[in-house]
Amino acid sequence: KLVQLSAALAEKGNYRHFMEKEIHEQPEVIARTLTHYVDPFRLVVRPFESIDFKQYDRILIVACGTAGYAGQVAGYWIEQIAGMPVRNEVASEFRYRDPAVSKRDLALFISQSGETADTLAAMRFCKDRGLTTAVVVNAAHSTMAREADIALPTLAGPEIGVASTKAFTCQLAALAMIAINAGRARGHIDANREKELVTGLLEAPRDVSKALEMEDEAKRIAGELTQSRSVLYLGRGVYYPLAQEGALKLKEISYLHAEAYAAGELKHGPIALIEENLPVVVVAPHDHLWDKTMSTMQEVAARGARVILVTDSAGLAACDVKREDVILLPDCAPIASPIVAAVAIQLLAYHAAVYKGTDVDQPRNLAKSVTVE
Ligand code: AGP
Repeated sequence: KLVQLSAALAEKGNYRHFMEKEIHEQPEVIARTLTHYVDPFRLVVRPFESIDFKQYDRILIVACGTAGYAGQVAGYWIEQIAGMPVRNEVASEFRYRDPAVSKRDLALFISQSGETADTLAAMRFCKDRGLTTAVVVNAAHSTMAREADIALPTLAGPEIGVASTKAFTCQLAALAMIAINAGRARGHIDANREKELVTGLLEAPRDVSKALEMEDEAKRIAGELTQSRSVLYLGRGVYYPLAQEGALKLKEISYLHAEAYAAGELKHGPIALIEENLPVVVVAPHDHLWDKTMSTMQEVAARGARVILVTDSAGLAACDVKREDVILLPDCAPIASPIVAAVAIQLLAYHAAVYKGTDVDQPRNLAKSVTVE
């Protein structure tokens, strides 16, 4: 055990924390994960021999925590790229209901550790019901990797920090591959569209490297966040799960209270929380929902909130709302954008925790892998 521990500590290199190291490893491990799935010469995703997407009516995605948020992003992608219905489930809810499933569902699980008790129980439930089970998994020798009918690896390498970072972005990379594969198999996208998506994804490692260059800015803003009791995160579409992931990350390592909402939900209640100087992190690279998000920003800024906008150059150019701070992401393909935006929310949480002096890699009350109920 001691030998293992010192080997792991040695691996921290010049970084203060594993989480910091893992954030910075992302360009490399995302590239590694993408390379596993892509034919770089033909710019296509290698077909998954083991999955015939035409055979299924629906994909059921089941996971916990950060892996669940990756699954939600995948839900948007699979519906858009493959035209396939998706149902996202929190494993701890799914396993204790009497969920209505069908053999024409592909049950897809997502787990860094491959050992999370609730996700594993949900997988076994689906197997018992005769569903095909697939898992996007980082730990290659884990129980889920062994028990699933199909294991789809993420190649993030060991993730030691309790707060998941590189596993999350690698999950997104692998899930994008599933969406493209399903889209092609079901004839929902043509070869040109596939090439466009794959090209965009192959640029993600470079985009993530560029995103890491805004670390100083994220650090300064994180310092200011720690002056508040509570932080709100907003996003729409694929950025809604990113907002949720941002709030989870901040809570788990900095112990600041954080909440995430789908931006359109704000007026259904949470807007009552807005008060002078409340930090509101709006995750909003420019997309077809931009105008909608802008009007929500308008609402919160008008009530005195401190808007921290995470966007790209097109978003910045189009933004005429008063914002306190901007984290400017590099311009990238839409499919790569949630992966790139993840860097901003990770850096905010990481530096907020460092400011607060918490135990970044081993936050209180948390275990890396939740193998008990
Ligand atoms: C992420 O920062 C968390 N520590 C946690 O939500 C984690 O993602 C969750 O417990 C699922 O773990 P798994 O991916 O190993 O199944």
